[in-house]
Amino acid sequence: MSIADTGPTTATVTGPHERVEVRVTVNGVPRSAAVPPRRLLSDFLRHDLELTGTHVGCEHGVCGACTVLLDGQPIRSCLTFAIGLQGRELTTIEGLADEDGELHPVQQGFQDHHGLQCGFCTPGFVLSACGFLAEDPDPSDDEIRDSMSGNLCRCTGYAGILAAVKQAAGVLRESGADPCARHRGEAAGHSDEAGDDR
Ligand code: FES
Ligand code: FES
Repeated sequence: MSIADTGPTTATVTGPHERVEVRVTVNGVPRSAAVPPRRLLSDFLRHDLELTGTHVGCEHGVCGACTVLLDGQPIRSCLTFAIGLQGRELTTIEGLADEDGELHPVQQGFQDHHGLQCGFCTPGFVLSACGFLAEDPDPSDDEIRDSMSGNLCRCTGYAGILAAVKQAAGVLRESGADPCARHRGEAAGHSDEAGDDR
């Protein structure tokens, strides 16, 4: 996983108890909340914006469960301060399925190939895969394995995850859709529930 440049923090902080208005665009929607300067992005998403599809596991950058997209690049939200993202664009797992709940091709791949069991790690895997496929739309198996190596799954096994990403790569190449954008429903032809894991 590449580490996205979160840029300089532009807000002025005068004390540890101050709350700062953080304004970002999440899944295409302007969102804001007044938060303490040290609020992590993972907590900002889950507790302030109530987007609980972003999961928190290790809380120190190892497991990948908290992965979201920042301007299309996967980042660890548990290692990122929300205050540093003023004006930036984020994509979370809630932003991938289409308006009718038809799954994004990466989500569909995980469902079709049993790429999840408990589902705790799944939002992070899915968003890592979206960012990876935007960079490398026609990856080899080894390249997929390498791209998923920053995400840990404790219960599924990785063969299904590899197959899921491989299928999604083919579907996305065929449709020409942006892997990091909300699914528009014309590519996969499936109809199923959304992947908002809580
Ligand atoms: S919770 Fe962020 S990497 Fe594990
Ligand atoms: S599906 Fe359970 S940890 Fe990955």
